[in-house]
Amino acid sequence: MKQVDVAIIGAGPGGYVAAIRLAQFKKNVVVIEKENVGGVCLNIGCIPSKAMIHASEIYQKMHHAAEIGFTVGSVGIDVKKIQNWKEGIVKRLTGGIGQLFKAHKIDLITGEARFKTRRMLLVKSAGGEEEVAFDSAIIATGSSSAIIPGFKPEGKYVGTSTEGLSYSEIPKELCVIGGGYIGLEIGSLYAGLGSAVTVVEATASLLPGTDPELVQVVARELRRRNVKVLLNTKAVSWKEMGGKAKILVSKEGKEEELTSDKILVAVGRVPNTKNLDLEKIGVALDAKDFIKVNDQLKTNIDGIYAIGDCAGQPMLAHKASKEGLVAAAVIAGKRELYDVRAMPAVIFTTPEIATVGLDEAEAKAEGYTVKTGKFPFVASGKALASGETDGFVKMVVDAKTDRVLGLQMVGAGVSNLIGEAALAIEMGATSEDMARTVHPHPTLTETLMEAAETVHGTAIHIFQK
Ligand code: NAI
Repeated sequence: MKQVDVAIIGAGPGGYVAAIRLAQFKKNVVVIEKENVGGVCLNIGCIPSKAMIHASEIYQKMHHAAEIGFTVGSVGIDVKKIQNWKEGIVKRLTGGIGQLFKAHKIDLITGEARFKTRRMLLVKSAGGEEEVAFDSAIIATGSSSAIIPGFKPEGKYVGTSTEGLSYSEIPKELCVIGGGYIGLEIGSLYAGLGSAVTVVEATASLLPGTDPELVQVVARELRRRNVKVLLNTKAVSWKEMGGKAKILVSKEGKEEELTSDKILVAVGRVPNTKNLDLEKIGVALDAKDFIKVNDQLKTNIDGIYAIGDCAGQPMLAHKASKEGLVAAAVIAGKRELYDVRAMPAVIFTTPEIATVGLDEAEAKAEGYTVKTGKFPFVASGKALASGETDGFVKMVVDAKTDRVLGLQMVGAGVSNLIGEAALAIEMGATSEDMARTVHPHPTLTETLMEAAETVHGTAIHIFQK
């Protein structure tokens, strides 16, 4: 039997970050992971999707290179090579985590853990079963793709994001069920690579819950890429017919048939809180099966913590990592709380959407008198020079104090701007602080400074009455 200070179940961006921080605090740590270190994010999620999106963008850029004076012949796609390149990136990153574990003397067991008691795990691995006794445990088991009835992945036509990022050829036709984060990221990447994409979305809008002003810009690009969007439409069933999938959808009660080479199911994710014997030791779950935690990531059972997707929304890698750092500090006896004012979120569509803090509607609902400012990329020298002028940066401030409450942006590369916006909110910056801060020229970061100026009607590069 092993005896450790801390046992961590899951080596995703929650678990591996917590493990390294605990090792820095001189704790004796074991991590139990049933698949590869890095979790969904590094292996089959964030990183491979960004690699595929990058590949799709290069393909698009080559097709539009003639606009700036290049003569481009026909551009071929070697899917196998792209997949190998993508896998190489994943291997470098996961290999790096393996090395960090070794350097920090973190013990990694490849196996599946469940709770035997409130102080002991039972771990099943290739070598058999072993018991791991712990003083503290962190559950960081993540989430899995939700599946709708009738659309269970069967290996050929129907798959989730995992299959969607590993197709061996570019599907001629791709039917995406769910117009949320995953559906639109993967849908727009394949549309960029030439697939005829149809998005089937149950609600009345794409990316439900995201400010419609932002979504509209992405929807315009989807139209440019000939993506067919069916709103208020539910996928009912499918069958194989003549080497294609025939999909039955129901749009406001009327049935319609679509054909496709592949069906990508992206209808949300569910927490991995089953098969851990949590009920045996009395760990409380909420109505949606997320583990209930307090602001120190403690569950209702003393010494047992939960972080990341299995511990509630938002299901974002950076939220899992942050929670991992907080849990590690709490376990090490530090005074620490999860006290995040600004949780950024990025949707890697073309163009990207990035948000942090409150949008205008949310700020009003919270009782603020708000002032807003908006600066379009078409007025940015850098955006023009890059040939990517769609979108804008919008700032929401408290009219009474000028404090920045939120920023919402849509445009090429906004994923790299949202960090500054998060820092501004965390530091309690005013829009005047952001306007007075010198931003380097020519960069897209100037658009944050200009958006802050627009709040006060003093922008230089757009005319405000
Ligand atoms: P999602 O919740 O973003 O979107 C699911 C969509 O499917 C919704 O629009 C919903 O209305 C629709 N839907 C549900 N049932 C349906 C049905 N039967 N027929 C048609 N449409 C249906 O979920 P998604 O895209 O699967 O992603 C899961 C989570 O993973 C996200 O909420 C996000 O937290 C995380 N994620 C984050 C990313 C990022 O940070 N860039 C990228 C990908 C995922």
